[in-house]
Amino acid sequence: MKIHNSKTSLKATLLPFKKNKKSIGFVPTMGALHKGHLSLVKQALKENDCVVVSIFINPTQFDNQADLEKYPKTLENDLILLYSISKKIIVFSPIASELYNQNISSKSYIFSGIEKEMEGKHRAGHFDGVGTVLNLLFRVVTPNKAYFGEKDFQQLQIVKELVKIENLPINITGCPIVREKNGLAMSSRNKHLSEEEFEEAALIYLTLNKVKEKFHDLTFKNLNQLVENEFKKSDFFTLEYFEIANSSTLKTDENKLKNIRYRAFIACFIGGIRLIDNMALN
Ligand code: PAF
Repeated sequence: MKIHNSKTSLKATLLPFKKNKKSIGFVPTMGALHKGHLSLVKQALKENDCVVVSIFINPTQFDNQADLEKYPKTLENDLILLYSISKKIIVFSPIASELYNQNISSKSYIFSGIEKEMEGKHRAGHFDGVGTVLNLLFRVVTPNKAYFGEKDFQQLQIVKELVKIENLPINITGCPIVREKNGLAMSSRNKHLSEEEFEEAALIYLTLNKVKEKFHDLTFKNLNQLVENEFKKSDFFTLEYFEIANSSTLKTDENKLKNIRYRAFIACFIGGIRLIDNMALN
């Protein structure tokens, strides 16, 4: 397995693939890999001639320094996991100053308004950071296809907008959420949960399922109420937001509209750890 820290050496490795018109699949990550990431890598391996996985904790997408410092750093273990899937994976683990051309700051993006919803409201500058780093990574890796998990559904929509804005010929593929046995969506942040918190965190998935079950019978107002009540019952959780939004625009509607696909989104805190999840409702 080849591990590259510099853009020049990665580009040199990818050159023969480009020359021979072989397809390059790309899975961008911030490391602390889990089965969710591995499912993206496996799909990329099935669909491409070569696969690049980037491992880079992107400083510009964190809205607070403490969160950045707390982010799990497990490079050695990540490499073992990737190696266990395929020795052919090409790993790109760049140095921030080189990736950012000595200017570690975000570009300002307008992603058709999607950036103003949910995570955009609660994590100032987050999507500018995500857009900036992916634009830089996409230009080095030049993939044909890039893979993102639906757990970060809003991020997935943002990336689809990003490639249009930046005019990048990359097919963006969304992959299903991978869950723990108790339904908790896999996330690098789960590593910070105690055993008890991990078990309690099943509440997120259970609540989303209740919303899905009742979607046709209850109004949006009543569904919101249902979620608030479920979270109030728990001593462990603080609900940051619950929204039912149009799957394409991520905007909310007052009442259900015909022929619109809706999705439920939750962000909450448990023991200081912020978790998000979402589910298609119809
Ligand atoms: O989803 C993530 O891990 C990050 O936001 C990404 C896409 C790797 C960009 O840093």
